Amino acid sequence: MPIQRDDPAYRGQSEYTPFFLKIYDPVILGFFTRVVWRCPTTLLVERYRRHIRPQHLDVGPGTGYFLERAGLPPGAQVTILDPNVNVLEHASGRLTALDITAVEADVLKPLPLDRTFDSAALHGVIHCLPGPLTRKAAAVANVAAVLAPTGVLFGASILGSSGSHTWLSQRILTANNRRGIFDNLGDTQEGLREMLGASFRHVELETVGSMAIFAATNPRP
Ligand SMILES: C[S@@+](CC[C@H](N)C(=O)[O-])C[C@H]1O[C@@H](n2cnc3c(N)ncnc32)[C@H](O)[C@@H]1O
Repeated sequence: MPIQRDDPAYRGQSEYTPFFLKIYDPVILGFFTRVVWRCPTTLLVERYRRHIRPQHLDVGPGTGYFLERAGLPPGAQVTILDPNVNVLEHASGRLTALDITAVEADVLKPLPLDRTFDSAALHGVIHCLPGPLTRKAAAVANVAAVLAPTGVLFGASILGSSGSHTWLSQRILTANNRRGIFDNLGDTQEGLREMLGASFRHVELETVGSMAIFAATNPRP
């Protein structure tokens, strides 16, 4: 069922219109990620390639930019999950070299998936989910529940006010939170670590610019 307007998670995914998805790669990944959040997109691609495995679940795939560069063999099975059908159509249309299954769903609700995965990404998604982190924790728990015992959850997220911000990034952070496309003012590095640690025994987390990059393994039963 499509996400409803009065759902707290609505604003974080409603921005992704067909037009925004067309300009997303150069504007968001080419400019904002590198210049505003000060995290090189090449570094994010490298981390993505490091952690991704065949039988992958990608939550919030956006344009499919990272999946296209992930180094998966042609025909690899990948499930993409997003409440926004524009995202699912755009990413599926781009990733024709992969065997894509598209699932329209909100990661904050129990996932309509009846199988497990070897890796899962929450890449650029947590800062879009409705805060506080205690509410976002449902997303991590839902993904952990569909990972194999040897599986890995990885991703990146923009930190809130406590993160390393410049004059420019602080203003954009505030504006995006005011508009409701981010809800991350209270997202701290330690809070993210704690949230991941509630569902995984092992958590690695580093910060680059205003972003936290993480990988979590050994999902708790
Ligand atoms: C900032 S984009 C990140 C896209 C891509 N993963 C990347 O790193 O470039 C956020 C993505 O998360 C999705 N999203 C937002 N809220 C979501 C939710 N509640 N459940 C699943 N996906 C969500 C959006 O629709 C969008 O595809």
